Amino acid sequence: MPPILTQRREIREPIRREPQNQSQTLARLVISSRPEGELRMNSRNRWSGVFNFTLVSLILCFLACSPRSAFAQSPHRVIIDTDPGTDDALAILLALNSPELRVEALTIVAGNVTAPKGLEDALKVVSLAGRCDLPVAKGAEGPLVSRLLADRFWNGPNGLGGAELPPSRCTADTRFGPDLIIELVHKYPHEITLIPIGPETNLALAVRKDPSIVPLVKNVVLMGGSISGGNVNAAAEFNIYCDPEAAGVVFNAGWPITMVGLDVTEVTLVNNTHVAELEQGAGPQAKFAAALARFQIGLYQGTGFQGGAIHDALAVGAAIDPSFLNTKAMRVDIETAGGFTRGETVANRHGTVDKIEEHAGLLESVGVTPVQPNVNVAVGIDSRRFLEFFVSRLKGK
Ligand code: BDR
Ligand code: CA
Repeated sequence: MPPILTQRREIREPIRREPQNQSQTLARLVISSRPEGELRMNSRNRWSGVFNFTLVSLILCFLACSPRSAFAQSPHRVIIDTDPGTDDALAILLALNSPELRVEALTIVAGNVTAPKGLEDALKVVSLAGRCDLPVAKGAEGPLVSRLLADRFWNGPNGLGGAELPPSRCTADTRFGPDLIIELVHKYPHEITLIPIGPETNLALAVRKDPSIVPLVKNVVLMGGSISGGNVNAAAEFNIYCDPEAAGVVFNAGWPITMVGLDVTEVTLVNNTHVAELEQGAGPQAKFAAALARFQIGLYQGTGFQGGAIHDALAVGAAIDPSFLNTKAMRVDIETAGGFTRGETVANRHGTVDKIEEHAGLLESVGVTPVQPNVNVAVGIDSRRFLEFFVSRLKGK
């Protein structure tokens, strides 16, 4: 597959002022909340006052100076809807090793592999990460309308690029994936970010069953689609191609969507240097991640790509830090018919359609009509920063 041209833009580092301000505010609160009498201290009290002040300052500095501090931000609740899958496994490991996220559940959908196989592999991955506390629930066994297309070539016969994992110590949650999504969204209204990184069948089933979840979801950061050509064929990206009807439901639901598509995932490639770094002093998670990354690199060799794509990990990265991406609001519709284009994410880049009228038996354009954007499409990415971040999170684990 030829590399896809992507608009790359300068992405500036965010200025991290918040923690400092928060510590200042907290220091102010601590000081101003002291009763007046306490200001007149005897010398013993003064020393203990100095000690207390130093201790409080140290604690505040520790909490506020660390970018991952509880004060800087409490973790975002996320649900990862996944079809593991090599890059899915990398995405899951990235999420589980990122304190910015609180993964509330993994829901499994048929895609790269069948749903039972995906469930088995997801359980092995969470077991590897020592997270048997995490609910892992099987969802849809196939697309809403079309037949299941398993992605054997791109994930290897075992679905994990040939990398073997020990049997899982974790057990599956017995709830149906879409039902678990509904339950958690109601439990944490306006807090949950959904991260679908497989075909969107589970999300579509959840929305159809309970549309009231839509305004209660904080965000949807999905891996799927492309505005510059597909990877299954000329037009369609795999996740959308697998279940275009489900994608149609998700894209038209009315919730905020960030689409992390091939436009950015195919220019963000792991290479042998990243793998070597992962392998340095590697624990079991990093070893497994390195094996998956090597498989991805091998897959793309000779195709013109300078490394391996780890698509799904980028959606998790964007949920952690949106500033990796440069996005543009667009109207995106899903092609569900089309001789060559079923599953294409058809994006309106200019935000208008021609207004056409009939005059004297002739169709004429007479102006333009604005269209309402429904998706923030990732059109650029700071690939180097993301890849360094990815490796740093898994290295030594
Ligand atoms: C997407 O398709 C799957 O094969 C990957 O896991 C990823 O979600 C990339 O097109
Ligand atoms: Ca996937």
